[in-house]
Amino acid sequence: MRIDPSSSRILVTGGAGFLGRHVVQRLRQEGCRDLTVPRSADVDLRDPDATLDLMRQAAPDAVIHLAARVGGIAANRRLPGTFFHDNLMMGVNLMEAARRCRGGKIVLIGTICSYPRMTPVPFREEDLWNGYPEETNAPYGIAKKALLVMLDAYRREHGLSGIYLMPVNLYGPHDNFDPEDSHVIPGLIRRCVEARRAGVGSITCWGTGAATREFLYVEDCAEAIVRATTTYEAAEPMNLGSGREISIRDLAALVAGLTGYKGEILWDTGRPDGQPRRCLDTTRAAAALGWKACTPLEEGLRRTIDWYEKRA
Ligand SMILES: NC(=O)c1ccc[n+]([C@@H]2O[C@H](COP(=O)([O-])OP(=O)(O)OC[C@H]3O[C@@H](n4cnc5c(N)ncnc54)[C@H](OP(=O)(O)O)[C@@H]3O)[C@@H](O)[C@H]2O)c1
Repeated sequence: MRIDPSSSRILVTGGAGFLGRHVVQRLRQEGCRDLTVPRSADVDLRDPDATLDLMRQAAPDAVIHLAARVGGIAANRRLPGTFFHDNLMMGVNLMEAARRCRGGKIVLIGTICSYPRMTPVPFREEDLWNGYPEETNAPYGIAKKALLVMLDAYRREHGLSGIYLMPVNLYGPHDNFDPEDSHVIPGLIRRCVEARRAGVGSITCWGTGAATREFLYVEDCAEAIVRATTTYEAAEPMNLGSGREISIRDLAALVAGLTGYKGEILWDTGRPDGQPRRCLDTTRAAAALGWKACTPLEEGLRRTIDWYEKRA
């Protein structure tokens, strides 16, 4: 189903969140005027009746489902049951409501955390089912992956229209900088900035620093999501990444340099590294969407640090 943002009614769940606000901004730039952005305080998507009411009232041509419980390794370890339950139930309720209301195209956002722990790099979409995910984020990754199965089942049995996109780790303005729940980049930025301001001689990071990750600037991701919403219609899931793999050790040095922190970076090797390597094959997105991430990591980090420094 092709969606023209300027003449379509679009529901964005989680549209006030980190990725959500960038997707909403992008939709507005593309002329979308009929947007519904519910807040969790008004509509709890874990509640099937509330979700059905929302779907009936919004009557959307497309639903971009960004509502989720997310966080870094610490949050995944502290709340594995919540991450499994909430992410699964929100997606289940949303698709069931769409089925009952004959709702529009569903755009589900998956995660790189769904890939098996030892997936060959770069991760290809075909490798998604070749093993169990990294233990630290398996409940989150499997809940998200189960929604891909449900989407496919509902497409075949009920004719539900939908697509499934899998972004790598995101970063950018409006990210979550909470020390308990943040992902690696906001966590590093916060610690480097605080240590620089306080004149602290060293900071300690989790793990060995040897694990690698790939990062996608949030505005690039929002552009890809909107483009996929408007043009992509296939059962196959799609990776969204920047194509650049970097070790956590090199990332920490980069963030320290860009924040002007000159102290030592120590590694707490008793803490988990998480998945050893992560980097996506983005051939499918390039071919199907004509999309390529355009913000280099250094530039995206500069913008994110600038945003944070002005608010912290
Ligand atoms: N951040 C990343 O690095 C990353 C990477 C890959 C994929 N993703 C995916 O991208 C999506 C957005 O992530 P994000 O980082 O933007 O997360 P986020 O900032 O935490 O935003 C998620 C939003 O979900 C809403 N929400 C949570 N529980 C809800 C509930 N029970 N009912 C209704 N709404 C609820 C919240 O809305 P309120 O503000 O109204 O409370 C929140 O703003 C998620 O699907 C995530 O899995 C994120």
